[in-house]
Amino acid sequence: MVIAIDGPAGAGKSTVARGVADALGFTYLDSGAMYRSLALAALRAGLDLDDGEELGRAARGLEFGFDRTTVRLGGEDVSEAIREPQVTAAASRVSVHPPVRDAMVALQRELIDNGRYVAEGRDIGTVVSPRASLKVFLTASEAERARRRAAESGEAVEAVLAAQRERDDRDRRREHGALRPAPEAVELDTTGLAIDDVVARVVELARDQGAA
Ligand code: C5P
Repeated sequence: MVIAIDGPAGAGKSTVARGVADALGFTYLDSGAMYRSLALAALRAGLDLDDGEELGRAARGLEFGFDRTTVRLGGEDVSEAIREPQVTAAASRVSVHPPVRDAMVALQRELIDNGRYVAEGRDIGTVVSPRASLKVFLTASEAERARRRAAESGEAVEAVLAAQRERDDRDRRREHGALRPAPEAVELDTTGLAIDDVVARVVELARDQGAA
């Protein structure tokens, strides 16, 4: 059983997905954390971020560990390291390569097949779990998304906005697993909305559609 929450950077996916998972007693899966972990491993190992084959091999060799608040890579807690701006930028580069996406999608499906998940990302509803019982596509204005990220990270809004544009652009333009709503996705614009209201709306949708 999967509830898919996709959308661009800063649309509120993580907070909403966590809130929905808590409300329904589902497990939360942050697929972006997996691409970020690969980016971190690649930067540390000095891998070429344009070499899809090599990065695909690296992705297949990663040992992830997730719990509600922590992301582990080979046993190390990398929850904070994967949020660094240079890792964020590298994540959007490594994620364009088909061998990387194939490895990540296979891992995500393995996890999801064994439980009740709220999974967030870019391609959950379109590629990872096309038969998800509910698909939500979260959006918000570009300015609000950048403001939210800047408030979280302490960076300047202008810097976040520029990096966000580049990332969204790359996510939308790539050939595989591109950022786009699944045809049957419910699109929710969270601009100006309180997170609790968005969570309540998604929970209501899940109950209406028999997904919970
Ligand atoms: O969601 P988050 O910002 O943590 O994702 C980091 C990057 O990982 C995104 O910019 C995107 O390029 C990539 N990603 C992806 N597919 C997903 C989740 C994230 O390509 N399902």
